[in-house]
Amino acid sequence: MRMTYPASSLGVGGRSTFRDSQLTADPLVPTGDPLNWGVVSTGNIARTVTKELALLPDAGLHAVSSRSAESAQAFASEFGFTKSYVGHRQLLADDDVDIVYVAAPHGQHYSIVHDALTAGKHVLCEKAFTIDALEAAELVRLAGMNRVFLMEALWTRFLPSFQRALQIVHSGDLGTPHWARADLGFPAPRTTPLGRIWDPHAGGGALLDLGVYTLTWPVSVFGLPETVTAVGQLSAEGVDQQCDLQLSYKDAFAHATCSLVARCGATATIAAEDGRLDVFEGGNHPRTLVLTDSNGDVRAERFQPAGRGYTYELREVMDCVRAGKLESDLMPLAETQAVMSIFDEVRRQLGVHYPTTAERAE
Ligand SMILES: NC(=O)c1ccc[n+]([C@@H]2O[C@H](COP(=O)([O-])OP(=O)(O)OC[C@H]3O[C@@H](n4cnc5c(N)ncnc54)[C@H](OP(=O)(O)O)[C@@H]3O)[C@@H](O)[C@H]2O)c1
Repeated sequence: MRMTYPASSLGVGGRSTFRDSQLTADPLVPTGDPLNWGVVSTGNIARTVTKELALLPDAGLHAVSSRSAESAQAFASEFGFTKSYVGHRQLLADDDVDIVYVAAPHGQHYSIVHDALTAGKHVLCEKAFTIDALEAAELVRLAGMNRVFLMEALWTRFLPSFQRALQIVHSGDLGTPHWARADLGFPAPRTTPLGRIWDPHAGGGALLDLGVYTLTWPVSVFGLPETVTAVGQLSAEGVDQQCDLQLSYKDAFAHATCSLVARCGATATIAAEDGRLDVFEGGNHPRTLVLTDSNGDVRAERFQPAGRGYTYELREVMDCVRAGKLESDLMPLAETQAVMSIFDEVRRQLGVHYPTTAERAE
């Protein structure tokens, strides 16, 4: 299906930026200019990212909020937060919180981020950014109006390995790239009560959970596709249990596959006229880039991230906020919005329908 993108998006063919300095910058080096974080929610990724925040010498673990007082207090005492709050609104009323990290399910991102931006806080919001392009556009508008920083927490984009992959591809050393593919999949358990991955109210499904990672490879290399064609199957709950996106460009095409039922791996390939770049494992957090030239000679570049790798996106947020930037050029809001438009089109083709914003906010 031919794509049209929001007026503010990058437009067809616009490719992502990379930053040479990101290849060497150590996020753990102190800047001497601390900023206070407030973490909303106490689930899995909140724990992982909080451990990484604790590695940054200038990140103050100031406040955490949860829907339950017990969870908030337990999380605060485990990680050493100064304050714990019941519900995100209490946390947003704390003047000492500089940056809010939103780690709720994506179905709840819009309402929480909306409140945070309205309260004048800088925001790092977990992927997928929202449920649809309409919600994303409203949050981007609000952030601009309130002159606060806003970014989708697509951590892959800030990793030195991913930045290096883009540097290699865009350098032309492999020749012109014409083809890319990426996959990410594993069987996701069904729990009682239903976990966020399968729950339509939480924005469940493979696309929003995993498709953000697989799509980021072709979009970073080729920019926004001219057409998108999706195939996939829905779960009993009506969310996409797996899907494959075929992306078409003027002179290239790509596949992005994601699954919640099959171990399809976590790989990525970019193929160009004179060579190929492969990631054979950890496609959303590469440790090794494998380069094959036109003679078939193979060499590997290996990377050891600081912490588990979330440190880079966290440092980027703090650097941007200190510099008075309203967004990061490594993960531009226009691209986040455009990707949400692609997801809207894919869900339209697959027949996935989520509850409305108001129903999800309840
Ligand atoms: N960047 C990454 O590597 C990565 C990895 C995993 C997940 N994620 C993203 O992070 C988000 C959370 O995923 P997760 O795996 O951490 O999920 P999770 O373990 O289910 O945790 C989500 C937390 O959000 C809160 N919550 C749940 N339902 C809610 C509702 N209806 N309204 C408001 N808050 C609610 C709960 O915290 P309280 O009980 O404390 O309120 C819950 O523990 C998702 O958007 C996901 O895509 C990112």
